Amino acid sequence: MTGMKHISVMTDEVFRYLEARRKGYYVDCTLGPGGHALQILKNNPKARLIGFDIDEISLNLARKNLKPYADRVVLYHSDFRYLPDLHINFSHIEGIYADLGVSSFQLNNPERGFSYNLKGPLDMRMDHRAKTNAAKIINKYSEHNLAEIFHEYGELRQAKRLAKEIATRRKFRKIETTDELRRLCERVCRWRPQKGKIHPAAKVFQALRIEVNQELKELDTFLEKVTYKLKPGARILIISFHSLEDRIVKHTFQKFASPNGERPLLKIITKKPVTPSETEVMKNSRARSAKLRAAERL
Ligand SMILES: C[S@@+](CC[C@H](N)C(=O)[O-])C[C@H]1O[C@@H](n2cnc3c(N)ncnc32)[C@H](O)[C@@H]1O
Repeated sequence: MTGMKHISVMTDEVFRYLEARRKGYYVDCTLGPGGHALQILKNNPKARLIGFDIDEISLNLARKNLKPYADRVVLYHSDFRYLPDLHINFSHIEGIYADLGVSSFQLNNPERGFSYNLKGPLDMRMDHRAKTNAAKIINKYSEHNLAEIFHEYGELRQAKRLAKEIATRRKFRKIETTDELRRLCERVCRWRPQKGKIHPAAKVFQALRIEVNQELKELDTFLEKVTYKLKPGARILIISFHSLEDRIVKHTFQKFASPNGERPLLKIITKKPVTPSETEVMKNSRARSAKLRAAERL
């Protein structure tokens, strides 16, 4: 298994916009290897952390990385969308944050099937308990559904053409591996490497990953429920890497900041999304599409 180091995105900004200097609990919804969590625990001895990850392997890695602070940490192997329904005392929580998507640790493990660059099974499940993987979607979804997913989540121009080709191919032999799918994408989209152009498989793999893990599902409901539960002064911060996710965060924050005739529940701290500096993007290309939005409970 390869495990190229994950570099956390906008760590200073996360600390600053959460106002994580305050004593109390912070909830990391998407722990990954625990980079953001470490930053808070290291820099604030009065901070306690509640962490979630849906991926057990990532959670175990975080547990190891956060070991020096274990007495201030509670971890859950769970989808963060269950957080509002757990018996957690929200009156002690000063900040909740999520850094959405997958980590380099997951992306660079060929067995997980997240990367079109690495040969492996078409899996892409963050949670191994989940029943649907990418191979099932590719081999079972209707041609129409596949086209919709590639178009909506991957913004692939040739979505219909690729879905048609997949539907024809799989009649003879199932498509089971990342490299089979990558080659198919390259052929259908007539890929020729060009500076500044995104590989079509990158779009298709992103779309499949979003569908496998239902990444957009109930993000708005989660933000709504959490907003009601948080105490005044507590902060919510989300880093997203996809325009559809960012739109959900933006609209939900706006809905609570300027509701129709009702008392606002949120003050938006980031009028525009905060993005990484050029220096950060140069050091970590994964950061280039990151957008950070933060709000404070009123
Ligand atoms: C980008 S990584 C987080 C990296 C982390 N912030 C750091 O700095 O090291 C995202 C993590 O969120 C997890 N994840 C994604 N969706 C989730 C969900 N709905 N519930 C819980 N964890 C989730 C993934 O398994 C992955 O480990």
